[in-house]
Amino acid sequence: MANELKLGFAPLRAPARGVLIVFCDDALKVGSATRKLLGKAADILPRAAEAEHFTGKRGTALDIVTPGDLKATRLTIVGAGKTAELKHNDIVKLGGAAAGKAPPAGGDATVVADIPGTEMTSEVITDLVVGARLRAYSFDRYKTKGKEGEPKPRTLNLTFAVASPSTTSRAWARHEGLADGVVLARDLINEPANVLYPEEFARRAMALRKLGVMVEVLDAPAMKRLGMGALLGVGQGSAHASRTVIMRWRGGRRGAAPVAFIGKGVCFDTGGISIKPAQGMEDMKGDMAGAACVVGLMHALAARKAKVNVIGAIGLVENMPDGNAQRPGDIVKTMSGQTIEIINTDAEGRLVLADVLHYVNTRHKPQFMIDLATLTGAIMVALGQEYAGLFTNNDVLAERLVAAGEATGERVWRMPLGPEYDKLIDSKFADMKNTGGRHGGAITAAQLLARFVGTTPWAHLDIAGTALGSPQTDINKSWSSGWGVRLLDRLVADHYEN
Ligand code: BES
Ligand code: MN
Ligand code: ZN
Repeated sequence: MANELKLGFAPLRAPARGVLIVFCDDALKVGSATRKLLGKAADILPRAAEAEHFTGKRGTALDIVTPGDLKATRLTIVGAGKTAELKHNDIVKLGGAAAGKAPPAGGDATVVADIPGTEMTSEVITDLVVGARLRAYSFDRYKTKGKEGEPKPRTLNLTFAVASPSTTSRAWARHEGLADGVVLARDLINEPANVLYPEEFARRAMALRKLGVMVEVLDAPAMKRLGMGALLGVGQGSAHASRTVIMRWRGGRRGAAPVAFIGKGVCFDTGGISIKPAQGMEDMKGDMAGAACVVGLMHALAARKAKVNVIGAIGLVENMPDGNAQRPGDIVKTMSGQTIEIINTDAEGRLVLADVLHYVNTRHKPQFMIDLATLTGAIMVALGQEYAGLFTNNDVLAERLVAAGEATGERVWRMPLGPEYDKLIDSKFADMKNTGGRHGGAITAAQLLARFVGTTPWAHLDIAGTALGSPQTDINKSWSSGWGVRLLDRLVADHYEN
């Protein structure tokens, strides 16, 4: 896509230049505002549709290059399908599909925010814009040249034609932070590990201070004093020192228990001494996607001044093999006092989370904790890339997460926990071991986390499948999806704001 996106709002008038994008339903009907704006040009629609076998199916599009007496260089009609059954996330996806029809090289495009049969409230329009913004995302920071034979990408001026530009602008100002949060998460995940190591990640989290988030950074000596031996053990083979970052947003009642989000922030996972094969190892720069999601979520919540107290905590380490690295057989002591025998140094994420979960639980007494982690390859074997694995000790949390997942399209599938699985991580030498054998790998990983949450309602989201190497969708063409930001923003908005 273009190298920069400029969003704008304009009245419902035919644009003087650029590409014009409108919606129709599965009967090829356009909304009344669109009909008015197109004038006579609307008459060519049925014939053009027939020639191209375009039926208005959701997400498909028809291009008309000589749009009658319109000044636009091209008219594109995006199918909205059956518009009676459009849900929140369908609208977001339609915004993505529309933005996908803007010229890839930049320039001007106008989307007429008018979906037939749909009342175009501020909420619906901002959903469209969120989708467009996410679709237009690309990570080109390290590309110094354009593609050969293609024009150098310019800025894309994407304008939404709406009934009231000023009302929509104000509504967008309240929703923009959500899209920014997803983009922030994607950027952090896409950054290579030579740039984004724990200290640098902590610096980027500190930027949330300008939104009123309190950010506290624990360095290695501070974590040592706290007894975070599991987290520190993972990082001890790296030239980069570990960090834990605690972010606090206080938008709720004074003294009300916070909700807490905890992220796995392994800035690079080589596997350590139990080293990973070379094939695909570069993807392990994204092993901090859980932490990235927490930072993106804190951004979104603070930007819209969410009426809730929130803790975001991320454990930042780099898992490297080195003379100082931890070994299989080593036994580490966690902040909770429990000991863990290291069987495989590549099962490091659970070690990091064990200490951060315990820290958050005992320091901040949250009403619930949700952790996000690219924790296991096993969850990808089980669920592919469509659902994240959900493990929880609380049925209410489960129900709410499933519902928020359906609403946002960031879906979760509940997996089992139980004493039969728990005993698979008992150790000969310590309180537990960090792997549970060949079977049920995502479950035994979650069982280890469960030993560090006490009786606090807790959910663990294994996002190894959903966060990285993402399938191309209407709202994402990037390697990283920023998965989880929209899901958890929705969960908080629906249930935890006062
Ligand atoms: N970060 C990996 C899991 C992962 C794999 C995330 C692929 C994203 C894509 C995690 O630290 C890991 O290595 N897990 C091991 C655990 C095993 C050693 C018990 C795994 O899943 O193989
Ligand atoms: Mn690993
Ligand atoms: Zn890992």
